[in-house]
Amino acid sequence: MIPINKPWLGVEEKQELLDILEENILTSPANNGGKRVQEFESSLREYINVKHVIAVNSGTSALHASLLSIGVRPGDEVILPSFTFVATANSVIAAGAKPVFADINQQDYTIDILDMKKKINKSTKAIIPVHLYGHPSNMNEINSIAREQSICVIEDACQSLGSTYFQRQTGTLGDIGCFSFYASKVITTGEGGAIVTDNDDVAEKLKMIRNHGMVHGYDTALFGLNLRLPELSAGVGKIQMKKLAQMLKIRRNNADILSEGLKKFEQMQSIVNLPQETMDKKFNWYLFTVNFKDKNQRDLVKNHLINEGIGATVYYDPPVHKAPYYNNSDSVSDDTLPNTIWAWHHALSLPVHPLVTENDLYKILKVFETCK
Ligand SMILES: Cc1ncc(COP(=O)(O)O)c(C=O)c1O
Repeated sequence: MIPINKPWLGVEEKQELLDILEENILTSPANNGGKRVQEFESSLREYINVKHVIAVNSGTSALHASLLSIGVRPGDEVILPSFTFVATANSVIAAGAKPVFADINQQDYTIDILDMKKKINKSTKAIIPVHLYGHPSNMNEINSIAREQSICVIEDACQSLGSTYFQRQTGTLGDIGCFSFYASKVITTGEGGAIVTDNDDVAEKLKMIRNHGMVHGYDTALFGLNLRLPELSAGVGKIQMKKLAQMLKIRRNNADILSEGLKKFEQMQSIVNLPQETMDKKFNWYLFTVNFKDKNQRDLVKNHLINEGIGATVYYDPPVHKAPYYNNSDSVSDDTLPNTIWAWHHALSLPVHPLVTENDLYKILKVFETCK
């Protein structure tokens, strides 16, 4: 089976892990983190081109800590898409605030600007645009609306390391950016995450929040938790960063093969719409997500692909507002999020990660041919 995503690990990661075990320093409670954490943060800082990077133990922790750092608390509302991984909404709940779901657009599945604007009120403290599938959200519009109303923008860049918007890395466009290094992401530390910001005060707070609100130890000055990244994970991340450019190149190459091969289905019969970069939005090709005109056709192709050993996946099934925990009397009705419902029923993600071979890609194209 070719899974939808898979880590690309090698001897360098193994050696790094052995070295750390040999050194016998597995973590550090220091305010700046351990040696590997600092090295990993430096390589991210350089790549992303941002002033501060704070490594944490997951993307969820990155989002939660970011919300705490800007003072989000009970009574506040945070706007985010429902068409995302549930962690985005859960982090808002963890901060004690209310998630308010906005619709997405049908072009790239990112937050719909008009709907987002409609959902702003006096209680809105933050907006979390999600760069879903590695597609950059429309950050110029989001930032200008948020700035007018003194609302913070926390980018959920968990899927978008390497994606750019007007040549700038996603995650650096709002006030704070959050990354995940879960095993399915473009680089992995197993579990892990990072927060990026240019704001010195926020960065200092974030370093405290990841360490029980302490600076020197036993001097808790604000609420925090243990959100520290272990040295073993940071060591793997440091090596993964060295391979990032190469891995992104392979993803792009795989995506090019699918785009070329699927073009005819888009042009001739309008069966699918393909993911489309623009001059200003460049993808990391975390996933290759297409949408079908017809849901039955989508399901047919998906089932055929799975039978052929290709892990085609529907993200997100269901969207967050339809998950049992969120689907309560307080929840929004489907007709207020029409594009979210549409994407749930029509989108299909295909694998393009570095372990996908040309043969696998041709297998995918053949299934489309069979199902047309
Ligand atoms: C869009 C999005 N937000 C948040 C997260 C949470 O990241 P993590 O799984 O590292 O906690 C993920 C990844 O799983 C994600 O894809």
